[in-house]
Amino acid sequence: MKVFVNKRIPEIGINMLKDAGLEVFIPEHETLSHDEWLSYCKENDSILSVGGAFKYDQDFFNECPNIKTIALYSVGFDHVDVKEANQRHIPIGNTPDVLSKATSDVAFLLMQSVARRASFNFEKVKTGNWGDFDPLHALGQELYGKTLGIFGLGRIGFEMAKKAQQAFDMKVIYHNRHHNEEAEKELNAKYVSFDELIAQSDVLSIHANFRPEQKELFNASVFEKMKSNAIFINTARGGFHHQKDLYDALAEHKIWGAGLDVTNPEPMFKDDPILELSNVCVLPHIGSATIEARDGMARSAAENIIAYSKGEKLPHCVNPEVYTL
Ligand code: 8YV
Repeated sequence: MKVFVNKRIPEIGINMLKDAGLEVFIPEHETLSHDEWLSYCKENDSILSVGGAFKYDQDFFNECPNIKTIALYSVGFDHVDVKEANQRHIPIGNTPDVLSKATSDVAFLLMQSVARRASFNFEKVKTGNWGDFDPLHALGQELYGKTLGIFGLGRIGFEMAKKAQQAFDMKVIYHNRHHNEEAEKELNAKYVSFDELIAQSDVLSIHANFRPEQKELFNASVFEKMKSNAIFINTARGGFHHQKDLYDALAEHKIWGAGLDVTNPEPMFKDDPILELSNVCVLPHIGSATIEARDGMARSAAENIIAYSKGEKLPHCVNPEVYTL
């Protein structure tokens, strides 16, 4: 079986594919145009797909009828039309679990950075404005005993909630499509409505899988209802928030601050006015960017392709229903 890997990934994944006797193709240059990417997809039977730039939609599946499976190098699968994949009996793999700790670490890092105004204070040092000691200046807020609201409490949200509880004894509330019984039992997490979530959270952190109907769900009408001391954290997908509305809420101090590892659009423009604000911390989508998580992702993606090549079910499958259709 021929596998197209569109960007270099940790060697461990490539070696696994080769050791399993698969033919691996990695292009010489990594920044592929849409046409180059499509032509490589047409020449191969499977894709180990890195990044979210290329969409696996109806047009793609029509153009590449030879593709038998796609192993995403991500846990998110918002760039795949799963319904189309199902219709064509194409299993789609992803990389859950291995990045939950790393991604929740970044959410935790952003929460702390915004609470203690790290970017603002770092900027002062960089610009020679350390200043005299002032008991009333540069004050942050403490998170002890406060309420963490999680939108989408799955594996990553669970890890974030666990850390927040261990470090700050935070109370956890969450809103999901389904109850998370493990979180309710182990973390005493309380299921609330969406409106309760936004009204009660001191920190609101998004950890859901993005669906198109949730586009810019976090907009002016939501920021309006949040607490004035609230910290908004997004490490999931930039599409969840309306960037201009978020800017307004931050500039007008309707909320305390925001920590973003994902932006809308992504990459962010360097002249985005959000970057001028002192109550934000922005990172360039580094949630899973640790040696351990990226190795784990390479292993999981390779396991998916190898399982397919042996006629087995994908061990980490986005659309397990494909096997019963
Ligand atoms: C990846 C991610 O860095 O897993 C995800 O859904 O957003 C990140 O871990 C990115 O998608 C690269 O494939």
